Amino acid sequence: MKKILVATEKPFAPVAVEGIKNVFDKAGYEVMMLEKYTDKADLLKAVETADGMIIRSDQASAEVIEAAANLRIIVRAGAGYDNIDLDACTAKKVVAMNTPGQNSNAVAELAFAMMLYNIRNGFNGTSGSELRGKTIGIHAYGNVGKYVATIAKGFGMIVHAFDPFVKKEDIEKDGVNAVDSVEELYKKCQYISLHIPANEKTKKSIDYKLLSSMPKGATLVNTARKEVICEDSLLKVFEERTDFNYLSDLVPDCKDIVKEKFAGRYIFPAKKMGAQTSEANINAGIAAAEQIVAFFEKGDNTFQVNR
Ligand code: 3PG
Repeated sequence: MKKILVATEKPFAPVAVEGIKNVFDKAGYEVMMLEKYTDKADLLKAVETADGMIIRSDQASAEVIEAAANLRIIVRAGAGYDNIDLDACTAKKVVAMNTPGQNSNAVAELAFAMMLYNIRNGFNGTSGSELRGKTIGIHAYGNVGKYVATIAKGFGMIVHAFDPFVKKEDIEKDGVNAVDSVEELYKKCQYISLHIPANEKTKKSIDYKLLSSMPKGATLVNTARKEVICEDSLLKVFEERTDFNYLSDLVPDCKDIVKEKFAGRYIFPAKKMGAQTSEANINAGIAAAEQIVAFFEKGDNTFQVNR
């Protein structure tokens, strides 16, 4: 009997866990749950006998992959897989997958939740402003970027996007203005919504040059990864521009300085909340479970991200 570990430091909603268990029950697989663990040793122990594994932002380091003697597949229930050591997976012939698109709407909605909370001054009773008529730049036009565009148009925002991997005509089909460079995007837009992955090319790429070029009312919305921000630049722009706001689903390393000096101009949740809805948990969790069953039963490796 195949053993599947669901290791989620930040658990799925109970209804999603039920759905995941149903998929594995039907396939005749055993499910092992490891939720809210605080010690890496617990993960190393739990993975020892697993044939397959579902994770979220949990760290699947080389040490974890090494500890999993029987592991054949690991699925990140979500989009970004920068938390998986892909080389370690490839070296051990472990297939790594993600579940693209499954939690995208939830992430896009959170971007707007943060924007509205911020533009209405945290609902503190004072007069705020509106999103209608403001410019928004979508930095990377993937699954989340597309949802952000749809919602932004609903709010009456002027929507621009930049993505070097998507054809301009495909962006413009959606009624979004595709700009030619990342510099142009930041120069044009009061709001920037970030949707780039964290990798060697993008880490610290959101720098002083880009941030300081944004027009008055500059607001950076980060539902992507904290690593893509150059935090020295972030702090410099916060200092220099009283109109600059940073709304982030990821708590930056410089959080203490921001909290002390820039009250009312930032949002950081307790934990990453973008994908934390029951709908997104059901979509991504069940997709992950189905991908594991399809892999074992039919050799299906659609969505494999390591080769
Ligand atoms: C993703 O990459 O899918 C999101 O960052 C969601 O991450 P989470 O599952 O840890 O909430």
